[in-house]
Amino acid sequence: MPFKFLTLEVADRVATLTVNRPDKLNALNDATIAELGHAIDEIRVDDSIGGVIVTGAGRAFVAGADISELSSQTPVLAKARSRAGQDVFRRIETCPKPVIAAVNGFALGGGCELAMACHIRIASDVAKFGQPESKLGILPGYGGSQRLPRLVGKGRAMQLLMTGETIDAAEAYRIGLVNRVTPAAELMNVAREMMKTILANGPLAIALCIEAIERGLEMSLDEGLILEANHFGLLAATDDMREGMSAFLEKRAPAFKGR
Ligand code: COA
Repeated sequence: MPFKFLTLEVADRVATLTVNRPDKLNALNDATIAELGHAIDEIRVDDSIGGVIVTGAGRAFVAGADISELSSQTPVLAKARSRAGQDVFRRIETCPKPVIAAVNGFALGGGCELAMACHIRIASDVAKFGQPESKLGILPGYGGSQRLPRLVGKGRAMQLLMTGETIDAAEAYRIGLVNRVTPAAELMNVAREMMKTILANGPLAIALCIEAIERGLEMSLDEGLILEANHFGLLAATDDMREGMSAFLEKRAPAFKGR
């Protein structure tokens, strides 16, 4: 499907999904949110794609929701906008294929929320993070108040949401908001290398790791442990498990088939 505000390219089983509104620092208008939903749905079912790297065109990753659209919203429309964005970001988060955010610049508001909905975040050393919504008299609407404390803890999330302050990549790494920081010029290569490492592993195992973590975190420990044991049992029925273990014992690289 052709996109107006995104580009989607596929090479070597890795999709690169780029938010492409650089003149507005890739601000997420409603149309871009809808396109992100279509893109992740396509990626989910396209067998030629093993995983996706999400990034931004130009000097920003995403500088937030589009304030020109938010400025005139009514309470009912604002709630619907929030629910629509939350739904798209949840589809990204629960995608059974690995999603890596390559954060190339500003990741503010909805941009920080988009990065947090990805499974792994790699930041350029010039990236900036923040949830500045309180400066606009609102709170995050695309999951920021829920995902940020889960990632960095309650106290730090309280501070970031209430001050609206912007932090640099080094601080984002220190508090656990990003997995890794790289020089700007190396960002995409580092993201691709990490994706390559992941895609060399069993795809069913990867999908169930994602599900165990994403769903398990919403459960009690006992329920999460049952989920894990069920996945562990399910994978024992796969050719991939036999291949992975045979390859180890035969001292060769595995050739997983995803079945
Ligand atoms: N919504 C709509 N437009 C945005 C935007 C947003 N969230 N963020 C940036 N833009 C637009 C600017 O209005 C400007 O458009 P214009 O050239 O037509 O005037 C363009 O992107 C470039 O932004 P500008 O502010 O000139 O760049 P800067 O380098 O001076 O500042 C930021 C960069 C990120 C600090 C600043 O743009 C900013 O604070 N953006 C809003 C961040 C925010 O509050 N996000 C949460 C929204 S809920």
